[in-house]
Amino acid sequence: MSKGRIFSGMQPSGRFHLGNYMGALENWIKLQNDYECFFSIVDLHALTSSYDDTSKLQDNIMEMAIDWLSAGLDPEKNVIFVQSHVKEHAELALLLGMSTPLSWLERVPTYKDKIANLGSQGKDMYTYGFLGYPVLMAADIMLYKATCVPVGEDQTAHLELTREIVRRFNYLYKKDVFPEPEAVYSKAKVLPGIDGRKMSKSYGNTIPFGASPEEMMERIRMMTTDPARIKKDDPGNPDICIVYAFQKVFNTEEVVDIEAKCRAGEIGCVQCKKILAEKMNYMLADIHTKREELKQKPGYIKEVLEFGAQRAQVEASKNMVEIKEAMNVL
Ligand code: TRP
Repeated sequence: MSKGRIFSGMQPSGRFHLGNYMGALENWIKLQNDYECFFSIVDLHALTSSYDDTSKLQDNIMEMAIDWLSAGLDPEKNVIFVQSHVKEHAELALLLGMSTPLSWLERVPTYKDKIANLGSQGKDMYTYGFLGYPVLMAADIMLYKATCVPVGEDQTAHLELTREIVRRFNYLYKKDVFPEPEAVYSKAKVLPGIDGRKMSKSYGNTIPFGASPEEMMERIRMMTTDPARIKKDDPGNPDICIVYAFQKVFNTEEVVDIEAKCRAGEIGCVQCKKILAEKMNYMLADIHTKREELKQKPGYIKEVLEFGAQRAQVEASKNMVEIKEAMNVL
């Protein structure tokens, strides 16, 4: 029995890393067994900030599909598709834009933050499309009448806005066309980057998802440890050590032992890093193999996305008829 319908999306920005996997994708993979799920590679959303250079867009879409499938998202169980392949996303966003007050969009906290952030890199973010980002996101969710939306905490304001847009629509057109979607937060383990800051491509501190064993060792070697520890038998402080933070997530069996040995100066950082790399490579080995395999099969990936778009299309067309009828756009 399905617990409800899920919609979620990720932007194909070519930046998928282990932090994204632990933060979101791992959760989706659990949810796919209990919910009816629509998972979309939201390329139109990517255009809201990368409108000026679209040369990598198609590669990034393929990469993202490979990441999802190799991690275990099942294209039979879920509807996996590219947002722009289902034209109704754009159509519904336009219709919802008619009744969405400008003030609702301007007060979204991430809006001003991101303008300041990207604006300082010299990009003009005062675009119509970027302001409308949350309307497009509302359209994604509403098009499928999703009831649950697994997202990170950073999307709370966007989801609240979706709920307001739903209420306004149902009120204006006097019909309960849409349910109010609920956020499903994951109890995600937050992974720091290898320097201890938030893992983010722009900080250059990520571990790429699908890193080879050699790359993995290389990235772990660069992790910062207790700086006061000079000789390997100096007692260490795991609380300020990034390797330890990772041991807690990826090596639950040995972490207690490692912590004690670190504090007692009985295990050196080099050895600790080696243990971690082996553990992580072991845990990610299947994903890595699958990823390499899928990379050789672009035809198959395209088929999966086409199949997903067809299934999404059926639901989108059906709901669009009802939506337009409610609005008397016939
Ligand atoms: N804004 C989301 C993010 O950056 C991506 C997204 C687009 C999304 N449409 C969505 C998430 C619909 C959930 C539901 O993470």
